[in-house]
Amino acid sequence: MKERIEQLIAELTLEEKASLCSGQDFWTTQPIERLGIPSVMVTDGPHGLRKQAGDADHLGFNESVPATCFPSGAGLASSWDRELIEEVGVALGIETQTEDVAVLLGPGVNIKRSPLCGRNFEYFSEDPYLSSQMAKHHILGVQSQGVGTSIKHFAANNQEFKRMCVDTIVDERTLREIYLASFETAIKEAEPWTVMCAYNQLNGEFCADNRNLLTEILRDEWGYEGLVVSDWGAENNRIEGIKAGMDLEMPGNGGRNDAKIIQAVKDGRLDEEDLNKVVRRVIELALKGTENAKEMTFNKEEHDAFARQVAGECMVLLKNDQELLPLKKEQKVAVIGELAKNPRYQGGGSSHINPTFLHNTWDEIKDMGDVSYSQGYELLSDDINKDLESDAIQLAKENDVVVIFAGLPERYESEGYDRKHLRIPDNQVHLIEELYKANQKVVVVLSNGGAIEMPWINSTEAILEGYLGGQASGGAVVDVLYGKVNPSGKLAETFPMQLEDNPSELFSTEANQVTYHEGIFVGYRYYDAKKMKPLFPFGHGLSYTNFEFKGIQVDRKEMKDTDEVTVKVSVENTGKVTGKEVIQLYVRDIESTLKRPIKELKEFAKVELAPGEEKEVTFVLGKRAFAYYNVAIKDWHVETGDFEILVGTSSVELPLSTTIKVESTVKVKKVYTMNSSLDDLMEHPIGATVVQQVVAGMKEAFESTGLFDAEGAKEMTSSFTLRTMLMFGGMTEEQIEQLVEQLNA
Ligand code: BGC
Repeated sequence: MKERIEQLIAELTLEEKASLCSGQDFWTTQPIERLGIPSVMVTDGPHGLRKQAGDADHLGFNESVPATCFPSGAGLASSWDRELIEEVGVALGIETQTEDVAVLLGPGVNIKRSPLCGRNFEYFSEDPYLSSQMAKHHILGVQSQGVGTSIKHFAANNQEFKRMCVDTIVDERTLREIYLASFETAIKEAEPWTVMCAYNQLNGEFCADNRNLLTEILRDEWGYEGLVVSDWGAENNRIEGIKAGMDLEMPGNGGRNDAKIIQAVKDGRLDEEDLNKVVRRVIELALKGTENAKEMTFNKEEHDAFARQVAGECMVLLKNDQELLPLKKEQKVAVIGELAKNPRYQGGGSSHINPTFLHNTWDEIKDMGDVSYSQGYELLSDDINKDLESDAIQLAKENDVVVIFAGLPERYESEGYDRKHLRIPDNQVHLIEELYKANQKVVVVLSNGGAIEMPWINSTEAILEGYLGGQASGGAVVDVLYGKVNPSGKLAETFPMQLEDNPSELFSTEANQVTYHEGIFVGYRYYDAKKMKPLFPFGHGLSYTNFEFKGIQVDRKEMKDTDEVTVKVSVENTGKVTGKEVIQLYVRDIESTLKRPIKELKEFAKVELAPGEEKEVTFVLGKRAFAYYNVAIKDWHVETGDFEILVGTSSVELPLSTTIKVESTVKVKKVYTMNSSLDDLMEHPIGATVVQQVVAGMKEAFESTGLFDAEGAKEMTSSFTLRTMLMFGGMTEEQIEQLVEQLNA
């Protein structure tokens, strides 16, 4: 293909090259018919296909062809199931092929920095490792069917508020360890056909003009060879964009930018070679899209049944006091809440698709036994409706168990704007509290795209988090409620007690700028560091059975950072029913010279176990599991020392642990100056000898005051610098300069 593309480039006119840099319209690339360069179609994404046959838009307003609606990203990630995500990807890929589309625009991997982000429903996690693993398998699945993906939105696009202009200010270490890491593994290991460049600015420059992001990091460092496409309208300065590596502008611009490109090449502001790079990648995408195209069909019923299975795997049982769940067929059940009949199963905006079927819970649950329904509240209003409430209370009194369907109405969260608070509507809260007074056997089933506060939690015995579970979630909820499916989802985000507990609240947008002052302390990394108890921790999720974590073994207790360690853990199902458990592995740097999170997720695996069954799970950890991003050497680095490996069932329940010593093979060279502290000097053999000599005298002087003991005197002198030795240490300027030279040699 390479040779053919070079031939085509040689035959293209400058005008034709310029025209290839942007779309022909909203969803297709520009063809060059005379040379046989085809046009291909791209469409949203991510959890279903939104192919618009008629009028086009990027906010999900206009009708699209029917497609299976799977759970959105927040739900999918709660499965913590790589294989499942890949299978979903395969199904999505098949539907994409069937509709003659070349690229499905997703997955969305932006980190959930704030629970308020209106688009959190579409993103996977607050943790970059989990997020990138989910993305990798989504991409592998979709692309196995000969169609492409577009990992988005690159990068640091973590809020909807002012998303098209906000300048995200984030330090290099945080960017690498949290925000870029969420893309990195997926891009390196799954090679998405395209990467979607975000709307926002990053550290003062629009992502679309950012050469460091789009070329130096993405291509030179990560080895990415695919195409960069702009988010719809994210292009800023087309000439700078081309130089930066922003290939395809979407949607088309009616030729406006073509003229600028032509002029820039003519007057030498744009090197034609830079333009050729873009053209090469656009042609490659078009050829890949058409050459991989195949006739396909899919069975709507089968995909719908699969969507039900997937939704069941994603639901998270947050609370289950007195083992109220699963429900028993002989129990009389009151189903309450408009959401039981009018489900909220996907988010608003560009990912909004037209489902092939739509199942509501009421239709699925009404034949399960003695089950009756009452509306309870109006979804379109926040006001309490006294009549609806009193009907519901009456029904609650007449039944054994009350199942309330609650959550966030469509208007509370969407692409395009952020949430204002984390509450569910007042009328739903009031209803839950009143129903609990009438009958304490209350189960709440939630439909929402992101974390919520639950000041009403004590008015429930059980809570099932359904997220936005897709078109078949109505049936999946019934499967889980009645125990046909044993819940095995785990939160991929922390639910804080209250919004204010989340650090991003202190550092929100001011004058078009948002500074990530909390740094690497995002999600559980923050709550851990602050010893703050969240409402539900990252990784939490209950089951109808019990698991015992039985033992942990490592194949070595010491390793170099170039080696790997194998960790084996065993888990047993000690309960009465088959179930799945997610085994989560976190690493803690016991002692570090810089601030690091208390622990970080570095591996996980989901296993199914029959009652009494025990399985051993093996994890392999390499350098990256122990490393932080060292900005001085611009690389991942491990500090020599002991690390704790913690394994368990959530970020706060980690019954197994062991330690391993990791030795660094990289010497980080310190640069010494007149202003280096004596403490720093102690790390150097020559420095240490000198310091010991000078400090001995000073310490004596301090101790003789009677105000310091030996330890105090040592601390006092440790922050002195070489320069202060001129005054206190009896050293001359020449001596100090000579020493600095020796230290740096
Ligand atoms: C969204 C993208 C989407 C695109 C096309 C944009 O507004 O941010 O995620 O793929 O529109 O619909």
